[in-house]
Amino acid sequence: MKSTTATFGKTPHQPSLWTRADALKVHADDPTTTQPLVSADFPVLSDKVFIWDTMPLRDLDGNITSVDGWSVIFTLTADRHPNDPQYLDQNGNYDITRDWNDRHGRAKMYYWFSRTGKDWKLGGRVMAEGVSPTVREWAGTPILLNEQGEIDLYYTAVTPGATIVKVRGRVVTTEHGVSLVGFEKVKPLFEADGKMYQTEAQNAFWGFRDPWPFRDPKDGKLYMLFEGNVAGERGSHKVGKAEIGDVPPGHEDVGNSRYQTACVGIAVARDEDGDDWEMLPPLLTAVGVNDQTERPHFVFQDGKYYLFTISHTFTYGDGVTGPDGVYGFVADSLFGPYVPLNGSGLVLGNPSSQPFQTYSHCVMPNGLVTSFIDSVPAGEDGKQMRIGGTEAPTVGIKIKGQQTFVVAEYDYGFIPPMLDVTLK
Ligand code: FRU
Repeated sequence: MKSTTATFGKTPHQPSLWTRADALKVHADDPTTTQPLVSADFPVLSDKVFIWDTMPLRDLDGNITSVDGWSVIFTLTADRHPNDPQYLDQNGNYDITRDWNDRHGRAKMYYWFSRTGKDWKLGGRVMAEGVSPTVREWAGTPILLNEQGEIDLYYTAVTPGATIVKVRGRVVTTEHGVSLVGFEKVKPLFEADGKMYQTEAQNAFWGFRDPWPFRDPKDGKLYMLFEGNVAGERGSHKVGKAEIGDVPPGHEDVGNSRYQTACVGIAVARDEDGDDWEMLPPLLTAVGVNDQTERPHFVFQDGKYYLFTISHTFTYGDGVTGPDGVYGFVADSLFGPYVPLNGSGLVLGNPSSQPFQTYSHCVMPNGLVTSFIDSVPAGEDGKQMRIGGTEAPTVGIKIKGQQTFVVAEYDYGFIPPMLDVTLK
């Protein structure tokens, strides 16, 4: 295997840092970076399944793509168990919260289609039972490859391990709907290496997942973003001057934040087809700040690289905090340096009155942001929680230089196409 320098003739880049000083600028409830309240009377896509991470079909340049006028989304999906004795509480009532919280362990990839970019109809499972090599089918990206309707689905095969994989199939349309065919042979691509990206052996709580392949608009090569943690044994990371940043007096204490080691990983393809990949050093690290930078993705706009990633309140380190939501960074070239959008990184967070209302935001190149509903306070006293497992209202943001602004709200699960491909 050749080294990065030998293969690509460039010096490996330095990861950009999301510092503790940047994170001190994160403020919940700033109206320009807060998702409008989701009402407790939201409609659900299906009472048979929960859905969460939503992956719109797109091309390698990032454009959301319909085929023959049909929009297609992929979702992480799990059955709801309203009648399963395992999910009844002591009073014999369905414990939907427990069912919902257990969903990650049985996540499967499903697809949905629509004529209107909303009102999604369930297509079914993408892969038949037994095709995917592990128990969990976790997030990734479906890429429409050509006018023959071929799709490469990149995703994460989890438990045992966590491997970035891909499976090729095809989309077929009729007047009445869409079906996905093929998706029968899963190809493992790579796993964490322990040198740049943390392995399970180094940390049982490691993250390595959520592939997002793309073509660099400037150099035209095929790359892939993914979520990782910085390599090294759990507890061995140093939160030094660089990770702390320029903090005011009294903010030097980093507590136990050495346990927070998230990064946004990047790999480059050695071939045109994306079957052979080489991991490169992370684009962005958050050591001492946050332990998860999930589902990283780009919007390419005005010659700049807008890097977005989702994160949680509970994954922040000691002494820093922020809402669940999507965070962003911008650079003039792919390998950085990246600076946090809005000074802090926060782009669209949940309001503090409904801290779990939505998650897994995906910023599309048209400025629309899709996410799913997790749970919303309900009932007369607002003390009940209504579980979602369905699409949230889409939010519109405007991206301007190093700033972003919430400017619009649309219907539940509104994911309109940016271009349509007529299949041959
Ligand atoms: C984000 C996420 C992804 C992962 C999936 C697992 O909501 O945590 O990073 O692939 O959900 O369910």
